[in-house]
Amino acid sequence: MCDREREPDRWWGAAYADEPVVTQINDGQDAEDPSDTLPSSSASAPSIVFRMLELLDLAPGMRALEIGTGTGFNAALLSHRLGDTNVTTIELDPAVVELARSNLKANGYAPTVVHGDGSVGWSVQGPYDRVMATCSVKRVPYDWVRQTRPGGVVLTPWENPWICGGLLRLTVGDDGTATGRYTPDSAFMLMRTQRLGLRLFRDVVMDEHVPTESTTALDPWAVADSAFETQFALGHRLGDLWYAWHHGPEVEGVVTRLWVATTDGGSWAAVDWDGTENTERYTVWQHGPRQVWKEVEAAHRWWLDNDRPGPDRFGLTVTPEGHTAWLDHPANGWPLR
Ligand SMILES: C[S@@+](CC[C@H](N)C(=O)[O-])C[C@H]1O[C@@H](n2cnc3c(N)ncnc32)[C@H](O)[C@@H]1O
Repeated sequence: MCDREREPDRWWGAAYADEPVVTQINDGQDAEDPSDTLPSSSASAPSIVFRMLELLDLAPGMRALEIGTGTGFNAALLSHRLGDTNVTTIELDPAVVELARSNLKANGYAPTVVHGDGSVGWSVQGPYDRVMATCSVKRVPYDWVRQTRPGGVVLTPWENPWICGGLLRLTVGDDGTATGRYTPDSAFMLMRTQRLGLRLFRDVVMDEHVPTESTTALDPWAVADSAFETQFALGHRLGDLWYAWHHGPEVEGVVTRLWVATTDGGSWAAVDWDGTENTERYTVWQHGPRQVWKEVEAAHRWWLDNDRPGPDRFGLTVTPEGHTAWLDHPANGWPLR
């Protein structure tokens, strides 16, 4: 919390720093547990704002749609470049949208500011030459592609359940598909309508589950606490798997446990480390129709066999039917779960 009147130096310092500034937590609601805070709106770090604008490659006369108005800062920059009548911005949160409207007005900008769910775009002002999101997505809504002219660009921060990060720049083709690659290093808040909302112990692991036991030679830290590049690659192979660490789980003989689960909560695995240094085997418990640790092992093996590809070798193609992730070339793809 920082008040402009009471702490002007700190306030101006935050405003001019190349850091994100959180402007709302917990969707503006009081948290049941005050330590459980989730940033829900912010001004992004200026360097990432400018990098995204560069990636958009804007030119006079283009029409742009922004998803996630936030403070209105980026919408003001778009309006400055393209003119108010060519810019539409959409924000889900009613309090945030009101503040953005007044910020924009106070600074002499008048883009169209819509209060609504940006996951379905905003067809009224379309088609657009550029659609950009300033919240991240796990699935690119096909409406964004549909509302973009052929040859136009959809730019969005990307995340998947395994890892957060990467800017995805898709070019829309004449056939209604959109395809493109990633540039790394960006962490945005997830679009509210794509939040997972699952908790491992409340929603996934149940007392009545009877998991199967096996062992693995794959070090859990090699997949779930490894370099960004590794986790980015694994996330693209794993699709709908997520993980959580449990240190000191109060289970006899277990020092640290890695949980892995499907996003529908139907299948899970737990991989246990007993505290032995340089151990060569870990105990694995699996439950559900999918053997999720086997999927992790297969993804890791694929990553090694393909010379440990980093984010610059990955791309994505979006069609009305779904998402295809690919390595190096769109023809070398697999359906993204
Ligand atoms: C990082 S902030 C946006 C920063 C903003 N572009 C700026 O210049 O200040 C992300 C915003 O996305 C909004 N958002 C999240 N889900 C949304 C959705 N489904 N539709 C529209 N806006 C959404 C959040 O409420 C939040 O204000």
